[in-house]
Amino acid sequence: MLIVGNWKMYGLAGGVGEARALASALDTAPTAARIGLCPPALLIARLVAAVAGSKLSIGGQDCHALSEGAYTGDLSAEMLGDAGATLVILGHSERRAGHGETDQIVAGKVNGALRAGLMPIVCVGETLEQRQAGGAEAVVTAQVVGSLPDSVAEADFAIAYEPVWAIGSGLTPTPAEIEAMHAAIRETLASRFSGAGRKIPILYGGSVKPANAAELLHLNEVGGALVGGASLKAKDFEAIIRAA
Ligand code: PGA
Repeated sequence: MLIVGNWKMYGLAGGVGEARALASALDTAPTAARIGLCPPALLIARLVAAVAGSKLSIGGQDCHALSEGAYTGDLSAEMLGDAGATLVILGHSERRAGHGETDQIVAGKVNGALRAGLMPIVCVGETLEQRQAGGAEAVVTAQVVGSLPDSVAEADFAIAYEPVWAIGSGLTPTPAEIEAMHAAIRETLASRFSGAGRKIPILYGGSVKPANAAELLHLNEVGGALVGGASLKAKDFEAIIRAA
């Protein structure tokens, strides 16, 4: 099980205390799950220092495909790694929609993350219009294929299925809809990566809360969660982790 918090563009210096509280809760009562927290990039180094020695991994929310260059405002995977990050969220729907990231761009970033030794968490998900038109599985499996370069074959990475309409909305697909989509993603991974494709964690994301986490995390082929809003407070995020 892999449970990752995505703070998005939330969090000032006060967020360090939340990360520290979560790390000490996990120290006191350890969990078998792998736990990650992806704050805004400026907080990565501070969170890494604050939770040093704990089992909490810190990650980024995006990276550039290249290691360095004349790309004003961008950050490379090497820079995230240099700050102490060990994972990175890539292809989140907010970046696909707001920054024009195509599958091809995401695949380039995945290569960058692997080059720098970071674990990529590659996000896919359909819009409400695509679901209503009956095309959700085709859209999502095409994103899985297009966003993964061949270099992931032997790598430690995860997929996060996040229906765009479930993010931040309080809505979630039905358990049957989630299981059907995760099964379709699993088959796509298995046909491309054979045995290794069966082991890649497929996280669910979109309005995961303490109240629904136990149900969502125990569905077939759900290997964890990507949590936005409910990861900002240590108490809420810990409740989700305890539901695993
Ligand atoms: P949410 O966000 O949990 O606030 O819906 C999930 C995400 O965007 O990763």
